[in-house]
Amino acid sequence: MTTVKFTAMKDGDKDDYAFLTAHEIDYAAKTGDRLLDALVQLDEGLSGYKISRLGHSLQAATRAWRDGADTDWIACALLHDIGDIYAPYNHDEYAATILKPFVREQCTWVVEKHGDFQRLYYAHHLGGNRHARDKFTGHAYYDDCDQFCERWDQSSFDPDYETLPIEFFRPFVIEVFARKAYDPSVIRAGERVALVNPEIAKERSGAPA
Ligand SMILES: [Fe+2]
Ligand SMILES: [Fe+2]
Repeated sequence: MTTVKFTAMKDGDKDDYAFLTAHEIDYAAKTGDRLLDALVQLDEGLSGYKISRLGHSLQAATRAWRDGADTDWIACALLHDIGDIYAPYNHDEYAATILKPFVREQCTWVVEKHGDFQRLYYAHHLGGNRHARDKFTGHAYYDDCDQFCERWDQSSFDPDYETLPIEFFRPFVIEVFARKAYDPSVIRAGERVALVNPEIAKERSGAPA
């Protein structure tokens, strides 16, 4: 069997759908690789900044890694702007949708809202509301999103920063997208993990313990 027998879904039988399921599992296993390829495409996007979108994404992930952040945070820092390719006006929601089955709820929320939080840094220069984030005041993950933007997002447009290459982050992305989708032990609803872990940051900096 190389394709299904049907031309309309309602005519498919058990064998057809078992065959398709096997294909889907193979395809899903390569999601991490496809996202890394897409990230490279970001390099062509959004000119005008001192660094490309890919450079920005890698720099955000590098800052996360140097802060001692865990794998979920690193993957989210790397992919937080992946939505720019196809959803320039809701890129935050788009990225969050991609990440949602595979990372902690806390991280999904932060990626989904980072667009509103980022407005603090520029919206007033364009006559807009820089306090769009205020509607989330009191939310359990408000401070996490504030920190994500302050430490990793708004700061990551520096061409002189020593940014790690994309291959360094490949294992983190592959690990995240190989997880069982929506597994409660992945989503860890309500759990907060600090963005900054000074002990791990110290280890990663190569500083003596
Ligand atoms: Fe963004
Ligand atoms: Fe960003």
